[in-house]
Amino acid sequence: MGRIPQWLPATLIALSLVAIGTLLTAPLYSTPDRSGTTDELRFPTLDEHRNRYATGPTSILLGIGAEPSERRLSWFTDTGVHETVQVAEGSHETMPALAVTVAAEEQAQSARPGHDYVHATLTNLSPGTYSYRVGSERAGWSKIEQFEIYHQNVDHEFTFISDAQIGASGNRADDAAGWQRALQANDELFPDSQFVLSAGDQVEADYTGNIAEYQAYIAPPQMRTQASAQTLGNHDYNLFTPQRLYHQHYNQPNLADYDATRGTYWFVYNDVLHLNISSEYENWDEHREFLESTIAEHSDETQWTILTFHRALHGAANHAVDSSTTDALRDGLGPVIIDLDIDLVLNGHDHSYARSFLIDSDGQQVHPKTSEEQADHGSVSVTPKADETLFITANSSSGSKYYELVDADSYRDGFEPRFRDQQYEPNITGIAVDQCSLTATTVEFDGTAVDTVKLLRDC
Ligand SMILES: [Fe+2]
Repeated sequence: MGRIPQWLPATLIALSLVAIGTLLTAPLYSTPDRSGTTDELRFPTLDEHRNRYATGPTSILLGIGAEPSERRLSWFTDTGVHETVQVAEGSHETMPALAVTVAAEEQAQSARPGHDYVHATLTNLSPGTYSYRVGSERAGWSKIEQFEIYHQNVDHEFTFISDAQIGASGNRADDAAGWQRALQANDELFPDSQFVLSAGDQVEADYTGNIAEYQAYIAPPQMRTQASAQTLGNHDYNLFTPQRLYHQHYNQPNLADYDATRGTYWFVYNDVLHLNISSEYENWDEHREFLESTIAEHSDETQWTILTFHRALHGAANHAVDSSTTDALRDGLGPVIIDLDIDLVLNGHDHSYARSFLIDSDGQQVHPKTSEEQADHGSVSVTPKADETLFITANSSSGSKYYELVDADSYRDGFEPRFRDQQYEPNITGIAVDQCSLTATTVEFDGTAVDTVKLLRDC
């Protein structure tokens, strides 16, 4: 054993005395500092807690209105406060004192934990630019955004797209970027487009609703500045029950009561009656009644009738040949469409582009010799007789998923497309409306032409 240094015992004694002193003076548990006033000690109120941690209004979406002078807003919020819209004519960086406050018609707990959904409608808007924000004085406002109300004239353009289907590729961020590129391409290629009409499957959703996919779909800035109208696709529906997030995010005009999927509505936009039905609801008689009565009510004030639904009757890929659902739709809804005076049908679901022959009132294809002419720049003009209908099916608008074209001889008789295209590139379609024609121009994002068809009528 070695020698103990002479200094060690004294050091140990000193350290022990310090430790004992500390133990005697330090409390055994920590108590709050009670030296302040009662006011400083109070717990934050629920409002203060929410304001401190709340994000405020998110997923703000500018929806199409029942008529051109209306816009329908929806958003989610975690403030716990009743929220409203402030709107003012003109373009403003700060909200002017003369801004009008519009109350929400609906605010309730959403399917997103801790968040309400809010719906509000702006009516009687005159042509011009508007600034708006949503929120409250108490819990804060969203950033000010602008939108345009256009002069009501039959001459106008809108954009038709489908199946953004955020999440379908398995990479949500990629799909969201593709969707943002679609809206950017729309701004560049169709700068006069007044609204975007989507034929369904906005999100992948796994049939239950996926909060992050809805957020990604609504995230692009164009969703707050350009009106859009969505359609209920099979992925926007929970197989047997409505998808809560769908109805909470989309504030749709003239929603029909009869449709249990809650995916059928209509709106009028500059001489066009837009009928938008749910192909997930398979009571064709009730759809017939809705279409007949809505067309009868609005035929005097409109010149064109466009019907949009998700599952395509005249698609070009898998679903066109191998789907009992599509066959049921063809047998059930097909006769309804040909019985009614519908000019153009817009579909999605097949993630490939297809344009039909004109379909006559017997459900037969009209021979191109009697109905088609080649027009400028490779476009085709089509002249229907009364009651003949053209069908266009959109490719993917985000690039999240594509389906291969099937063998041309495998289509069910009478349902083969007149023109079809699959380049595995996303598409958007600008539709120009005037008194005597509807011209649908489908392009890839770099402007490469896919198809241009001009649907003429006697006028
Ligand atoms: Fe789809």
